[in-house]
Amino acid sequence: MGRYDLALIGFGGVNRALAELMSQNGDRLAEELGFALRVVAITDLRAGSLVDTDGIDLAPLLAAEPGELSFAGLAGGSADPRNEWVIREVPADIVVEATFTNPTDGEPALSHVRWALESGKHVCTTNKGPVALAGRALKRLAAERGVGFEFEGSVLSGTPVLRTAERMFGGLEITGVQGIMNGTSNYILGRLEEGIELSAAIAEAQELGYAEADPTADIEGHDVQLKVMILANEVLGADLRREDVFCEGISSLTPHEVRDAASKGLRWKLVGSATRHEDGSVDARVTPLALPAQHPLAGICGPVNAVAFHTDLLGTVTVSGPGAGRTETAYALLSDITAIHQRHGDDDSAPTCPVLKETHRV
Ligand SMILES: NC(=O)c1ccc[n+]([C@@H]2O[C@H](COP(=O)([O-])OP(=O)(O)OC[C@H]3O[C@@H](n4cnc5c(N)ncnc54)[C@H](OP(=O)(O)O)[C@@H]3O)[C@@H](O)[C@H]2O)c1
Repeated sequence: MGRYDLALIGFGGVNRALAELMSQNGDRLAEELGFALRVVAITDLRAGSLVDTDGIDLAPLLAAEPGELSFAGLAGGSADPRNEWVIREVPADIVVEATFTNPTDGEPALSHVRWALESGKHVCTTNKGPVALAGRALKRLAAERGVGFEFEGSVLSGTPVLRTAERMFGGLEITGVQGIMNGTSNYILGRLEEGIELSAAIAEAQELGYAEADPTADIEGHDVQLKVMILANEVLGADLRREDVFCEGISSLTPHEVRDAASKGLRWKLVGSATRHEDGSVDARVTPLALPAQHPLAGICGPVNAVAFHTDLLGTVTVSGPGAGRTETAYALLSDITAIHQRHGDDDSAPTCPVLKETHRV
């Protein structure tokens, strides 16, 4: 059985959840997927970096409280994240990027992904920044180096939206996409419909763990804007920049407006959409819309997300499921690794070469 050695960049909610899956279900996953996984490096802003090319024992790391974890003092550990050195020099097969999303320039994740691809390593990431802002260039770099670059979790966490479009729609023409792609704003809209004021609904979403301490990106639509860019670029072949995607959030909606619409059979939703026109141009936007009850997105409630694909031969096909959650998003990484195995497994998924391991021992 082949094995992939992983370097985890960022050890917050998502990459810890991936480590938990590997630690708790590693044998079952290996049997089912046909390859084994091992972590050989972890870097994190707070914890530092840890390298063991024989495989890191994850259990003691996972037993520590996230805020308490420090790699300094451990064999192969350092207080310094050493991202570039770890990504370029440690002989991992796949770099798993899960640091924070920077919507302005994608950094530092963009550099992490670039360093990995330049070094001939496969990359999977849940980080919207590099994918939305530089996806085309990164895909070109990956193709030049003959490695995989996968990012399913950047749109609807583990719900397979990008891969459904890529793999299941052969022969169909996709003319547009519309989605509810932010669970926090969708939950809040549901509460407005029940008469709760916006500020109280936001506080409730924060208590439930749906909303960040700073909910601006969710409320003002910026999170959805990046996801629309990814969908438009991936599914409709566009090359949109952030300024090309009009963005309006839900902060100006009142409970009265939302309830009034509901009494008329309409549901306010924050909809991200992209449409391809006959001349090939793609128009994309994020805006609140009052949808009629029969619209495929009208019944998507609470923190659930959905994307509706408009196609020529099938009409509208809607995929719905979780759009966030550390385990759900870790599953996206697992599905990315599986995709890398399926695409590149014949070339390089042979059991990791022990000679290489010895040569590169750090
Ligand atoms: N959680 C979800 O439901 C979800 C869903 C879809 C996509 N995503 C995306 O997935 C990524 C990870 O999400 P998450 O929930 O795991 O976030 P998180 O809990 O904030 O974890 C991010 C981790 O990366 C570390 N980090 C930040 N900058 C770094 C750097 N330069 N080098 C090394 N480590 C660095 C952070 O350290 P500090 O804590 O010290 O800053 C933190 O431990 C984000 O881009 C997020 O947008 C998350």
